This record gives sequence, structure tokens and C-alpha cells, in this order.
Amino acid sequence: MVRVRVPATTANMGPGFDTIGMALELYNYLEMDVIPSGLEFDISGEGSESIPRDETNVVYQAAVRVFEKNGDEPTGLKIKQENQIPASRGMGSSAAAIVAGMVAANELAGGKLTEGQLLELAVAMEGHPDNVAPAMLGGVVVSAVLDERLFYRKIKPPQQLSMVLAVPDFTLSTSIARDVLPLNVPVKDAVFNVSRASLLVLALIQEDYQLLGQMMDDKLHQPYRVNLVPGMQAVFDAAKRSGALAVALSGAGPALVAFVTDKDKCKLVGQSMRQAFSQVGVNCDTRHLAA
Ligand code: HSE
Repeated sequence: MVRVRVPATTANMGPGFDTIGMALELYNYLEMDVIPSGLEFDISGEGSESIPRDETNVVYQAAVRVFEKNGDEPTGLKIKQENQIPASRGMGSSAAAIVAGMVAANELAGGKLTEGQLLELAVAMEGHPDNVAPAMLGGVVVSAVLDERLFYRKIKPPQQLSMVLAVPDFTLSTSIARDVLPLNVPVKDAVFNVSRASLLVLALIQEDYQLLGQMMDDKLHQPYRVNLVPGMQAVFDAAKRSGALAVALSGAGPALVAFVTDKDKCKLVGQSMRQAFSQVGVNCDTRHLAA
């Protein structure tokens, strides 16, 4: 039997669309074991009521890809999922399921695939790397897919950075949040993002919090997704007024993430985000999470 722990992730971090992601101290746990035949599931925690207990289960499908790649089909599998990551909220729950399934299956199969091979399989399944990469490696990961090859580097998260996540009580599917994006964007918007994403990476490496706070705006995805998250701009404004350095849509949303350097301000930032959401009739839970 193997047991793995996979973190939640916040992808994009503003301008780094499909490129930059950060692991958060909130985890899903998975136990996997080979059994003589069939498939057994024991699923509890966040989203457990709607997670399939059959061959369409994402953890199972991810594991199968690894077993197939190894040429090693197990007789049967027992899968136990204990989930703490809110499902379909923009905190990497599907990436966590994929990574957990792949890492566990690889261990059961004797650890034949390398980290890079596993990550490429995970990216192929998820479609973009910015959640699966930090889910597998931890920390902040910057990644690029070139001709199906994945290039990635991990950055140590800045020590003083805390994240306050405002997690609304509704779900948003990533495919819906991607369908609202335009096929083409103006060059000036692309330059807006390339310049900010580049400086954001430097700010993260150099722990330059002032620069980090100034480089989190985005014009490639957030403006198109604003109507999917009622109150998004008001929550951004409220968090900044309460002392957040910057605020972003977490992944494809609907969770919003505020970046804070002074831990004492996290409570106030969370309260102001909850209040701004409540003014448009959205209930949300706030969580203060370290990287
Ligand atoms: N980069 C992705 C997006 C993350 O924003 O659509 C969500 O999975």
C-alpha cells in the first residue's frame, strides 16, 4: 500500500496564465493498493459526494496512464481518497487528483518513471501545467510546454508571503472559465502580461515584495472571467484596502487569492473579502494558507 499527500495549488498568480503556480499548505491524501480483482473506493471529505466510484474516477484514470506506460496492469485496485481541497473552486483539486493517482501508481509499479515523465503525463491529462507542476513539486513552479515537452523550474516561495483564499460557495468548471477566453488578444495586452509575468518571477526569486505587489495585474484571462464571479472586482478592491499586496483570481476561479506579507493583516483581509462577497449575495469561506 502507498500513501501520498498532494497540495492545493493556486495557478496563474495574476499575469502568469497557464505558466506560474504555487503550492499551498492544504492537502488531499490518497492510499492505493493492489487487490486480487476489481475496483474498490473509499472517498471522504471535500466534494466526496460527487466523485465517481467507478472507472471514470480521475485518480483511477491517472493511475491507469502510469500503469500502461510501465506496461504493468494491476489485477485490481483499492483507492482511498481523503480530500481537504475544495472541489472545482480554482484551488487545483483536479490536478491534485491526477498527481496523487500518478505518483501512487508509479510507487506501486516500482518507481520506474522519473519526475519529469510523470509530470509530462500529468500535463497531458490536465491540459496545462500550472497546477500539476506545483502539485507534484511543491513551492512555486514556472513551466512551459514546447512540442509536448515540459520545461519547468521550481522557486522557493518568498518567506514572508501568506495567502488569504476567499472560496465562494459555488463551483465553476475550468472548461466554462476557459470557454469565455478570446482566441486572439491585442498585442498591447500580451505585452502587458509578458512584462508583468517576467518581473513577477524575478520578484518571487528576489523576495522583492513591493515589486511583487505591483506585478500581479492581468489582461489575458481575468477581465474575461469577471462576470463568472459576482463581486470579483469589489473583493479585489476590499482586500487591497485592508492591506493585501495584490489579489488574483485563483486558477480559473471562483476562489480569489490575496497575497499578504504581514500575517497580522490576514484576518482583516479575509473579513473584508467575505464582506465584499456578501454584498453581492455570495457566501464564502476564507482560509489563510502558507505556501
Ligand atoms: N491556468 C488555468 C486557467 C488554471 O486559468 O484556466 C486552471 O486550471
